[in-house]
Amino acid sequence: MLPNETGLDGWLRYAALPDEFVSLRPRYSTIIPLADNQNSPIFTAARELQLGLSKILGQNISLETKLLGSAANSSIIVGTVKTFLSTNQDIHGALSLKEDGYCLVCKDGRAAEIIGQNDRGALYGAFEFLRLLSQNQPLPEMRISNPSAPIRWVNQWDNLDGSIERGYAGPSIFFAGGYVLDDLARVQQYARLLASVGLNGLIVNNVNSNYNLLNPTNMQGLARIADIMRPWGVRIGISLYFDTPKDLGGLQTSDPLDRDVIAWWEGITSELYRHVPDMLGYLIKANSEGQPGPLTYGRTLADGANLFARALRPHGDGVVVYRAFVYNHHLDESDWKNDRANAAVEYFDGLDTQFEDNVIVQIKYGPIDFQIREPPSPLLAHLRKTPIILELQVTQEYLGQQDHVVYLPPLWKTIFNFDLLVDGQQSLVRDIVSGQRFNWSRSGYAAVVNVGNDPSWLGSHLAMANLYAYGLCTWDPQQSEVDIIQGWAQLTFGLNKTVVDTITNISMASWSTYEDYSGNLGIQTLCDIVTHCHYGPSPAAQDGNGWGQWTRADAHSIGMDRTTATGTGNAGQYPQMVADRFECIDTTPDELLLWFHHVPYTHRLKSGKTVIQHFYDAHYAGALVAQTFPQQWETLRGLIDDDRFHHIAFRLQYQAGHALVWRDSINNFYYAKCGVKDEHNRVGNHAWRIEAEDMILQGYKVVSVTPFEAASGGKAIATIPGAGVGTATCTVAFPSGTYNVAINYYDHLGGRSQYQVFFNGRQIGAWAGDLQEKLSHDFSDRIDGHSATRITFNGVEVKEGDSLKITGRPDGNELAPIDYVSFLPQGVVD
Ligand code: GCU
Repeated sequence: MLPNETGLDGWLRYAALPDEFVSLRPRYSTIIPLADNQNSPIFTAARELQLGLSKILGQNISLETKLLGSAANSSIIVGTVKTFLSTNQDIHGALSLKEDGYCLVCKDGRAAEIIGQNDRGALYGAFEFLRLLSQNQPLPEMRISNPSAPIRWVNQWDNLDGSIERGYAGPSIFFAGGYVLDDLARVQQYARLLASVGLNGLIVNNVNSNYNLLNPTNMQGLARIADIMRPWGVRIGISLYFDTPKDLGGLQTSDPLDRDVIAWWEGITSELYRHVPDMLGYLIKANSEGQPGPLTYGRTLADGANLFARALRPHGDGVVVYRAFVYNHHLDESDWKNDRANAAVEYFDGLDTQFEDNVIVQIKYGPIDFQIREPPSPLLAHLRKTPIILELQVTQEYLGQQDHVVYLPPLWKTIFNFDLLVDGQQSLVRDIVSGQRFNWSRSGYAAVVNVGNDPSWLGSHLAMANLYAYGLCTWDPQQSEVDIIQGWAQLTFGLNKTVVDTITNISMASWSTYEDYSGNLGIQTLCDIVTHCHYGPSPAAQDGNGWGQWTRADAHSIGMDRTTATGTGNAGQYPQMVADRFECIDTTPDELLLWFHHVPYTHRLKSGKTVIQHFYDAHYAGALVAQTFPQQWETLRGLIDDDRFHHIAFRLQYQAGHALVWRDSINNFYYAKCGVKDEHNRVGNHAWRIEAEDMILQGYKVVSVTPFEAASGGKAIATIPGAGVGTATCTVAFPSGTYNVAINYYDHLGGRSQYQVFFNGRQIGAWAGDLQEKLSHDFSDRIDGHSATRITFNGVEVKEGDSLKITGRPDGNELAPIDYVSFLPQGVVD
């Protein structure tokens, strides 16, 4: 049996290679770091090589700090171009390296030279060397590798109180109770993971920042974080709260042109640099979602950004990263010209030449907010002088929150490879981001990351593939997403082909599967955006509020008209050739149809299907694929350690159930809305279901569910408050046979109900409403699409006429709610 693993080392487990492979590898004699400073990433690289070689190959190799004449025959030397040159080594190949790049030279397969363009590059080269060994790949005679862009950062979502904005994996590893944590051991381990995939910067705190970050105690804390990350080549920056001068500094205003405000920020910035001399700079979220900003004081966004840019200038290469996520969240939906997707271009147009040269604009990949499918933000085509950072997310906020597997690189690729055709010339988003298209020297990538204290970091082992892939994609956005997931699976779970193939299959199918059952044709992720959860289905929640994530669904038609001719004009924000394509229904790809056009449900797609039939079919197809995930995973039993096997099996099983909740909610909602029948007559017809409200109830009562589509038939049952245990009974009218018995119920915050299920008095199963302790997404506190879930008891022998009884013991506010029971013959999904 394989020893259990917690996931703490992520993809850096350095599992021992099988003996037959080890025997083919050279024996290294020494590891020689060419560096004087023990805190240098070069030393970190040397220690990491030492650790990796001992674990992967079983070689215990000493570190030598001096390069002796004969050492080179079987030693691994790690250093920078500069330190190699100072030892008179021939490093011809490495002379053309770009910032952070490395050159890996493996001579006769016996010795190795790892030459970084800088300290970080040396560390990245060492990690690549260890990755190749772990994957049992041949070592290259010479490999030169350069990152696509200089900025490859993560943005933490951590709050000072220790919570994480949308953290699904326990409390912060950085903060608790208003301060930086004393014990930063996890920060060290995190820095190692980031460095291993070439990530070189981290913004420590949530963009929804708190002025107390800048109190003296926290400044010292930031210094400790920076000290811990520095040996891993990860520099830190911070998110600022715009009104800090008023709220912490006691000034009358935070007006960016006010002299006292300017002086205050200069003082704070100097103080910060005393603590963190290599600080990256500031990330600013302002005039967004209720936050104050320069517009609050009648100034421009450029005035706001330049305030910080000037304060940073005396202190080296610090930059202000100003987020383009500026929009009005009280938008009037009754005006068909209003469009949140227009906001970024409207706010930033005309400012391109107004920013100081150490300002970078950070743009989310799509115009709205990390939806399942978006076109690239049009702002990516508007800034020529001001460099940009492309903001991605590892957090899966609208993408199943790490309890549904969604491997993100296939989505990211739709953005990276999109040709914006600026000025009629090829302008791939990845070339704009790299700086190549507009000759920027500092631009790149940021991803919002929500690692927490959970040993698995993200609350789900499979979700870690996205963090790994993010690093690799920023290094080379053209790398194949299949190669990335295969490599990750090998490092995380071992070299067994079945394991690697299964993880690859599930992962590669995961994004399109989630799109199929969550929101099609560019309508966005149809989750509940109102109750804060952004998780379960609630299509009506998109409309009727000021957030601007509208679908404009009525009884006849659906979609945002973003054309210039009749709609919001958003299509016209793209360069002409792209604008022309999106302006016209015929040239808009089906997958973005409803993003750009408002059409009848009966509109025919290029595929030949109507919009509504596509919705129905896609939801059935996606939910069906999700049912295969746990089955595929089951083939890995015994091939990976039990703990991680069960952790993932549980989540995939949960996902399969919740995919059905999604399928039925969305289909029932649109069927009720437009009345157009499913050609295959599936929607609303469930041959194998018994509705709980049709059972004989004792201590239970029928409740109407809001939104109605979150319950089969719009109704569920819940125990009567104060009545104690409830029972629901019925006689089974299905033919005798073997069934998988699935029970859909609701598991929300506020209690831990207990359930039991009996046939003819014989108990066949029991469970508790305790998902909030086992899963990590945002939970709601009521019966809805977030809490709807399913448990299945497989292979139950049932006779026609048997009596079925379910008992529910309520707990706290959770009244043991049940939606329906399905009797599923083998192979049937309902
Ligand atoms: C989304 C998200 C917020 C987050 C915001 C941002 O709106 O729901 O939690 O703060 O994006 O990126 O600023």
